[in-house]
Amino acid sequence: MGLATSSVITLHINGEKHTLPVDHRTTLLDALRERLDLTGTKKGCDQGQCGACTVLVDGHRTVACLQLAVAAEGREITTIEGVADGDRLHPVQQAFIDLDGYQCGYCTPGQICSAIGMLAEHAAGWPSAASGDVRPAAGPTPLTPEEIRERMSGNLCRCSAYTSIVEAVARAAEADASSAAGVPEPLGEAAA
Ligand code: FES
Ligand code: FES
Repeated sequence: MGLATSSVITLHINGEKHTLPVDHRTTLLDALRERLDLTGTKKGCDQGQCGACTVLVDGHRTVACLQLAVAAEGREITTIEGVADGDRLHPVQQAFIDLDGYQCGYCTPGQICSAIGMLAEHAAGWPSAASGDVRPAAGPTPLTPEEIRERMSGNLCRCSAYTSIVEAVARAAEADASSAAGVPEPLGEAAA
């Protein structure tokens, strides 16, 4: 008897359960877009290099093109469709609109999900390659434009809207984006 090549899985997405059969090779990105009609998450490179497909899995930034759908079972997945609180946009979404943090908009869902995860990482005290003195005595690392650029460097924008994106992320940081409703707590033990 051959090994099974498909399974019925239940994905928890934006607070709802979705049960579906999937080939074991199906990525989370394809499950979202092709099977569940959640097309807000974009496919760019399909090989983990552009960040267009970024979603939050248990609050952590994840490129959905490199995550198998079966491996996401039981995890709390948040896509761009789930970051707003009803009619109230997430502070990161609002900042991108207010400061024109996009041109064509194709990279934008990934930029926004990544920014939400990044702000939570920063709030939790995670340093980046751009951080200077990371000793506890030095206190929290200021979220300078250089910090934002480094921390968002996994998200490419072919329109090169980077200047506005950095300004939008900085604005959202002021609005304490990481505490917005609808997004799971980001950084537990599993992230270590
Ligand atoms: S589509 Fe996933 S990183 Fe580019
Ligand atoms: S706004 Fe066009 S790719 Fe970023």
